Amino acid sequence: MRVYRGTDYNDMSRKAANILSAQVILKPNSVLGLATGSTPLGTYKQLIDWHQKGDIDFSDVTTVNLDEYAGLSKYDVNSYHYFMKQNFWDHVNISPERTHIPDGTAADAEDECLSYDNLIAGIGGIDMQLLGLGNNGHIGFNEPGASFDKDTHIVKLSDMTIEANKRFFEREEDVPRSAYTMGIKSIMQSRRILVIANGVHKSEILKKAFFGPVTPSVPASVLQLHNDVTLVGDVEALSLI
Ligand code: GLP
Repeated sequence: MRVYRGTDYNDMSRKAANILSAQVILKPNSVLGLATGSTPLGTYKQLIDWHQKGDIDFSDVTTVNLDEYAGLSKYDVNSYHYFMKQNFWDHVNISPERTHIPDGTAADAEDECLSYDNLIAGIGGIDMQLLGLGNNGHIGFNEPGASFDKDTHIVKLSDMTIEANKRFFEREEDVPRSAYTMGIKSIMQSRRILVIANGVHKSEILKKAFFGPVTPSVPASVLQLHNDVTLVGDVEALSLI
């Protein structure tokens, strides 16, 4: 594992964006696995900025997102589909047909999961997967206790995740109770993984994930078993490492 320490959130975001741009410059038709949450916002902002300056071209890139709330349509302002459009896709030259995310309103959930796995396999797998870290060590929406052996599936969100994510919703009752997520097996099949984390509130879990035992109770700890992981954090998140 490589660890890069950013002086602050902006520096962390710039470093992460540099790593993603290097991936796209070296392989213009890369498949990028994308994440939501507040952590990647600065990374997306930086990539948009470089794209607008003509430094990075996404025209051959394909993206697959990690997760989506079950029950939310892509037009819902709280859906991850909407988040991605607002914060990234609509500002770069990615062709909409090459941006993928589970459909929160799919009639048949099992079928939706299977189609998503087939889609990822069909485009040749993920070259670089960007990951944020939940406060409880979740990756995507793979909550503590999740099996390491699952592809895309539906999960029940933990109380801690509902609590952490309610800040994006008007009322706590509006936070969906379940979500689609790539499984840990899908994530581990990515050729390269880029984890980003900022803030002192992520320092304990980051230490547990990367220096504690590999255990389903800390889903991100599985990343210790991957052979190409890059961790980019700000000084606060990395303060215990
Ligand atoms: C959500 C997402 C995760 C994300 C996590 C951390 O629950 N499903 O993919 O990594 O939140 O969010 P934040 O970056 O806001 O701390």
